[in-house]
Amino acid sequence: MTISISPDSTAISQAKNLSIAVIYHSNYGHTKRVAEAIVTGACQQLPASQVKAVDVHEIDWAFVDQADLLVFGSAVYMGSVTAEFKTFMDETSKRWYHRAWEGKWAAAFANSGGLSGDKLAVLQQISLYAMQHGTNWIGLPLMPTGHEAHDLNRLSSFLGLMTQSLDGPPEKTPGSGDIDTAIWFGDHLAKTIIKHQPANTQS
Ligand SMILES: Cc1cc2nc3c(=O)[nH]c(=O)nc-3n(C[C@H](O)[C@H](O)[C@H](O)COP(=O)(O)O)c2cc1C
Repeated sequence: MTISISPDSTAISQAKNLSIAVIYHSNYGHTKRVAEAIVTGACQQLPASQVKAVDVHEIDWAFVDQADLLVFGSAVYMGSVTAEFKTFMDETSKRWYHRAWEGKWAAAFANSGGLSGDKLAVLQQISLYAMQHGTNWIGLPLMPTGHEAHDLNRLSSFLGLMTQSLDGPPEKTPGSGDIDTAIWFGDHLAKTIIKHQPANTQS
């Protein structure tokens, strides 16, 4: 007997309904630019109307609550998410209590001024938050191509995406390698939720 594992037309049309919310806090625009690059990458797989960057100051809760994947991102302040991002986290405690996000996918990114900048602490902080909500984590399975400014995953991060912005406008920094890595990450995240949606996992 031959077992087909290729997606049927129902699975393909359901993939078109998957949606992603990229929720971020950015004071000076650098983290926002990374969020937008993740959206660009995800839109290589999903319709643009289903992938949105969501500023923590202007949350579209209806969109966030129905999204299949929540991507959380913050600038690093004193080795932590910013106070504004933490306020957003705390605002979701009722959703935690009611298990509103359980079973969704989750991923994270952190932007800071320092090369390390303690971004790992932020990714760990957000992953713990995502686990409290009962979500399923997606990391960054991308081998670094090198450590120059144009290289992909030059900061060698696997728990989530790390980017670094120097003193300069967001159009110039983070550099091309970090932005390309963010696009790769967005594309990977969308491919992952399409691949593992329930209709595609039946065998
Ligand atoms: C109060 C404050 C604390 C900061 N703490 C850190 C830090 O711990 N590590 C680091 O590398 N950069 C730190 N920075 C630099 C920011 O991470 C950097 O400016 C920020 O990521 C820029 O992102 P944005 O343009 O999205 O706001 C800090 C900046 C401020 C204003």
